[in-house]
Amino acid sequence: MLFDPKPKERREDLFDRDDELNKLRTGLDYPVTLLLGIRRSGKSSLVKVLMSEEKDVIWIYLDLRKYEAMHT
Ligand SMILES: Nc1ncnc2c1ncn2[C@@H]1O[C@H](COP(=O)(O)OP(=O)(O)OP(=O)(O)O)[C@@H](O)[C@H]1O
Ligand SMILES: [Mg+2]
Repeated sequence: MLFDPKPKERREDLFDRDDELNKLRTGLDYPVTLLLGIRRSGKSSLVKVLMSEEKDVIWIYLDLRKYEAMHT
């Protein structure tokens, strides 16, 4: 769904992020990869789409958004 406020999870819903997705995929071969970007720029979407494509990788995804408001 195009206007869902949640991160995209399917490749076909992710717009214009081919380069970033492939760079992140390359990062799987390294011990640590940092994915940095301003708020709402699509960081979680990139990770979730990559997770959906790389089934052989063991992923541990912690969604901590519900704690965001606790310290503000
Ligand atoms: N390339 C994209 N194609 C389609 N939708 C996108 C894209 N990038 C971001 N969005 C949409 O914008 C919103 C924010 O995306 P997302 O949650 O992935 O960003 P984020 O960088 O992880 O945000 P936050 O900083 O809040 O964690 C979501 O609704 C997401 O679906
Ligand atoms: Mg996020």
